[in-house]
Amino acid sequence: MNLNDAIKTRHSVKKFTEKKPDWRDIIECIDAARYAPMAGANYSMKFILVSDSNSINKIAEAAQQDFIKKAQYVVVACSNPSRTINAYGKSGEVYARQQAGAAMQNFLLSITEHKLATCWIGHFTEETIKKEFDIPKDVNVEAVFPIGYEKEKKHTKKSPIDLDRILYFHVYDKKKMKKLSKPY
Ligand SMILES: Cc1cc2nc3c(=O)[nH]c(=O)nc-3n(C[C@H](O)[C@H](O)[C@H](O)COP(=O)(O)O)c2cc1C
Repeated sequence: MNLNDAIKTRHSVKKFTEKKPDWRDIIECIDAARYAPMAGANYSMKFILVSDSNSINKIAEAAQQDFIKKAQYVVVACSNPSRTINAYGKSGEVYARQQAGAAMQNFLLSITEHKLATCWIGHFTEETIKKEFDIPKDVNVEAVFPIGYEKEKKHTKKSPIDLDRILYFHVYDKKKMKKLSKPY
């Protein structure tokens, strides 16, 4: 799958088949996260691959989202911002959150490429997840990703927001581009 197809076909899935994914495929998706940009090359991300059904049920309860219970695997994405904060102070806190997003998007695109399915889960009680997986206090739980194969393949992706609504030229809120020279 080329990058453009992966970007444009990625979508959230909340209904999974009974088929168990090969955990090695999930590891390859986590591997893709290593290639995300990190401020000062201080790598802050950690990923926990969870397969135990009791633990998966606890995640579903912490998120109050029952569909998670049907996933055969869940990836808990964490970030330890300490090195980034040591290097950049207060800005480091922001950088660590930003690079978590970059790493998780790499992960999602690789999930799409592997024909796996997931949904980014950001709503959960962080303390409950931390307790279940012995995650240290100063580590952030960024998101959890239930992984499976998509049950209803008839999904057609909604159109994204219009380009016109997110693009300005030269200054914020300016919709018109100045006449530019020809690109040759
Ligand atoms: C930061 C973040 C948090 C999210 N949290 C949840 C969540 O807790 N539960 C859920 O069902 N979807 C969650 N989503 C998925 C979004 O609802 C979904 O991406 C959005 O509806 C767009 O659909 P798409 O992913 O198919 O493009 C979250 C997405 C992001 C980026």
